[in-house]
Amino acid sequence: MTDTDLGAALPLPVASADFQDRLARRRSAPAQSLTGPGPSREEIERILLLGARTPDHGKLFPWRFVVMGPQSRADLAEKLLPLADGQPGPDKARKVLSKLTAPPLTILVICSPVDSQKVPVWEQHLSAGAVCMNLEHAANALGYSASWITDWYSYNAAAMALYGVQPGEQVAGFIHIGTLAEAPLERPRPNLAERTQYLP
Ligand SMILES: Cc1cc2nc3c(=O)[nH]c(=O)nc-3n(C[C@H](O)[C@H](O)[C@H](O)COP(=O)(O)O)c2cc1C
Repeated sequence: MTDTDLGAALPLPVASADFQDRLARRRSAPAQSLTGPGPSREEIERILLLGARTPDHGKLFPWRFVVMGPQSRADLAEKLLPLADGQPGPDKARKVLSKLTAPPLTILVICSPVDSQKVPVWEQHLSAGAVCMNLEHAANALGYSASWITDWYSYNAAAMALYGVQPGEQVAGFIHIGTLAEAPLERPRPNLAERTQYLP
């Protein structure tokens, strides 16, 4: 499947036990445990194509991507270390930054809201979050594990300047992608009955 022609009729959903099973047992990876192999250039483009196929009110596309290979993140981590705030010491700071440096591939999703009379900025943020989740699904669909991380350097102005976040923009997430040596373990899940209301 390639990018679809504008106006082309698209298939309606079909029930798929396989799709349901994958969603039911989907799990993020611990970022620092992600290792190679990571996606090829062709696979990265595919992950972006699938991930960007995300609802956004008004077709504003209020997000953009920075694809970061290992070298750029190693350089970035060295620059972030002196900026680390709220970390008890350099060892802890380096440990936190290992989530950024360990994975073979990272896609930084920047929420870049567009001036709009119609679409609130909040909704544009939601769309950026949906892109993050969809990138995880896309990575999973290509057989990779993924992790959505923000950490302190998503909110520190000096750090954000290092990866080109402009005024008005925000980091939606660092989506780390790679391979896990060991299967992840299940974590607590919400009691849906407690947080779901059914109306007639
Ligand atoms: C917006 C957002 C930011 C996150 N930032 C961090 C983070 O900075 N550090 C961290 O350890 N986990 C962070 N997480 C949590 C991880 O993504 C975690 O792996 C995930 O919630 C596990 O969910 P899952 O088991 O449904 O895949 C963040 C999650 C979201 C949605």
